[in-house]
Amino acid sequence: MLMEDPKLQRRQVTKILTFTGLAALAGGLAMFFRARFSGNFPPRVVAQAEEIPVGGSKIFTYPTDAEPCILLRPAPETYVAYSRLCTHASCPVFYQAGENRLDCPCHGGSFSVADGSVLAGPPPRPLPRILIERRGSDLVATGIAAS
Ligand code: FES
Repeated sequence: MLMEDPKLQRRQVTKILTFTGLAALAGGLAMFFRARFSGNFPPRVVAQAEEIPVGGSKIFTYPTDAEPCILLRPAPETYVAYSRLCTHASCPVFYQAGENRLDCPCHGGSFSVADGSVLAGPPPRPLPRILIERRGSDLVATGIAAS
């Protein structure tokens, strides 16, 4: 049978990993180009203000369901959000509340919570910032900041 040939299995696994990596990279590039060249995006309620504790975070998608973002609450009245895809190779970043950073586990990249700027590692650009407005108890994504 074909599936019992180890060379064919390796080729199939390599194809799957390559496709997955390219899909993640395409998502990151799409967010980068949207941030740089696009204007307005439709507003979307992404959270309720009180559902996120101080020092907490929430994963959401914006502006499409295929673009992961992370919403942070570093202080009681401060909410900030960024694309969750590292600008190096599109791995997801994680919030390190005690360090006030977003870290990427793939190659040691690190970003500032204050402005998304690169603090360490190979990422070539800041994280795209998602514009967040508080409307009553709703936290609403309203666009992507120009970079
Ligand atoms: S993908 Fe984030 S540092 Fe490489």
